[in-house]
Amino acid sequence: MSITKTVRGAKAMMAAFALALLSSQFVSINVGAQNPANANYDESKVVSYTLPDPLVAANGKRVGNQRQWRQRRAEILRLFETNVYGRTPHAKPRISFAETSRDAKALGGIATRREITIFLLGRKDGPQMSLLLYVPNGRTKPAPVFLGMNFNGNQAISKDPGITLSKAWMRESKENGVINNRATEASRGAEARRWPIEMIVKRGYAVATIYYGDLFPDHANGLKDSIIPHFYRAGQAAPEADEWNAIGAWAWGLSRAMDFIERDKELDAKRVAVWGHSRLGKTALWAGAQDERFAMVISNDSGEGGAALARRNFGETVERINTSFPHWFCANFKKYNTRVSDLPVDQHMLIALVAPRPVYVASAAEDLWADPRGEFLSAKAAEPVYRLLGKDGLGAAEMPGIHQPITTTIGYHIRAGKHDVTDYDWEQFLKFADRHLSNPR
Ligand code: GCU
Repeated sequence: MSITKTVRGAKAMMAAFALALLSSQFVSINVGAQNPANANYDESKVVSYTLPDPLVAANGKRVGNQRQWRQRRAEILRLFETNVYGRTPHAKPRISFAETSRDAKALGGIATRREITIFLLGRKDGPQMSLLLYVPNGRTKPAPVFLGMNFNGNQAISKDPGITLSKAWMRESKENGVINNRATEASRGAEARRWPIEMIVKRGYAVATIYYGDLFPDHANGLKDSIIPHFYRAGQAAPEADEWNAIGAWAWGLSRAMDFIERDKELDAKRVAVWGHSRLGKTALWAGAQDERFAMVISNDSGEGGAALARRNFGETVERINTSFPHWFCANFKKYNTRVSDLPVDQHMLIALVAPRPVYVASAAEDLWADPRGEFLSAKAAEPVYRLLGKDGLGAAEMPGIHQPITTTIGYHIRAGKHDVTDYDWEQFLKFADRHLSNPR
């Protein structure tokens, strides 16, 4: 290799690394380890690939109607369970719950703030999670809901002093007010800019959130303190290679929140949008794919293992994510680290599992680590399933430019800026929900 080429190569590598740093998330994570300088950010270096066809069953038969799609859907779901996220226990325990606080004059009187402890196995001495709600006041009907998990405890989504501080384990972060792995007063509002609660409530939607660490503390040894061991069979000491892991546990928690919503008179269980950012966007997609009670699914910058196509070697890869986050996916997923093309699914099929329900995929232009184009192509490749089910799919043949949202049943936008959730994203989610969630199913 000539010297100029080497220098150019090194420069390109540094530029890519800088971009990757830019796209790292707001809450502190070990960025260096996850965004290696050798990631590919060059479209011309994306290898060619063939996506599995969501409308061809494992037996080779073409799926041509809704009934056949239901069978194929079950097959695809099983493939994701076995090879990617792991199987969630099929027996659903009946939750019980207790409202621990209620303030009818929250946010200057526009909302009622409620805190609900959900006993995940129904028993008060068993595992629990804490659901925080802001329900719009002055309604005549139950409120539609935006349900999503947060990264830093419920108190992090707002400076509202009435929110109970989470007592759960949290990633150490002075910046986010987390000291000795516990939330302090300084953590209040740490991720508030990602949660424009007033704007959402004023549009008539309730906001519901859970701290994801209530289900699975997000670190490589989090399993033992997660919900998962509660479901071990007699003598079982670890999940099987095709059993759930952190993303499965988080998604399961969203479904338990849905169990509560179904039993609450103030909330409209037929109009719940499940949403999430980044790893929690992967989680929202997996929750929405499995649990058809969610009327809408929103993925924000979910990237690898979320909306982005796994087969595209752009930004984060299967190998990279399984190495940095060994606790997110099931053990079987690691088998595909170096042979992604053998995966029997790709992420467009995850989006297709949401069909015919509306799904929205949001990307950010500087979030190359999450592969915005891969997110778009994946949404696009889910379209045939939507069309088979009589829906309009994604209303664009090519990736739209920045700030040109698409609001067909598969929605999509790419905005300027980095890996984050902004008011621009929320404005689009709200418009999308107004358009597709206004009438109860
Ligand atoms: C890391 C990880 C991504 C993930 C992101 C996040 O960057 O590599 O896969 O989406 O963290 O959750 O913010």
